[in-house]
Amino acid sequence: MKVIDMIDEEMEEALNDQINAELYSAYIYLSMASEFASRSLDGFEAWMHSQFIEEINHGMRLYQYVNSRGGRVELDEIEKPKVEWDSPLEVFKDTYEHEQYVTDRINELADLAEEKNDRATLQMLQWFIDEQVEEEESAEEILDKLEMIGDDYRGLMMLDEELGQRPMASVFPVKLGEEE
Ligand code: FEO
Repeated sequence: MKVIDMIDEEMEEALNDQINAELYSAYIYLSMASEFASRSLDGFEAWMHSQFIEEINHGMRLYQYVNSRGGRVELDEIEKPKVEWDSPLEVFKDTYEHEQYVTDRINELADLAEEKNDRATLQMLQWFIDEQVEEEESAEEILDKLEMIGDDYRGLMMLDEELGQRPMASVFPVKLGEEE
């Protein structure tokens, strides 16, 4: 007896949309990395590079899952990201807002999986639900620090140093799920 059926079509489409959203997230963070590179803020840039890689891995996690459920991954165009920001603070306002948007999307996917009584997808999404708590928390923490720093250049340099300590995520880890 087959335990897990082939993935439902609507669920498959929604997961495909999420692959696109994760790759778009990667694009946004790479664009932000470039903003920081232009400001010679190397630590901020490195932090964004790591974020970029993590988002690719999120997309790959979904890619693997859709394939493992007998679905078909269909890649779509990736929207052009914003390319300029007025300040590091503005970058992190956008980062925090974007992660809140992604959380809403993941919650909607979980609602759909529940509606479809698709427990396997629901379980797979649990990882993303937990990840979004971390993603929002780290963006909010940096945003708070930048608000406190204001125009203090020394404070900004110290934060740049701190963010540069973030370990670089690895691309396509052999086993997805071990990339954190
Ligand atoms: Fe893939 Fe930052 O959410």
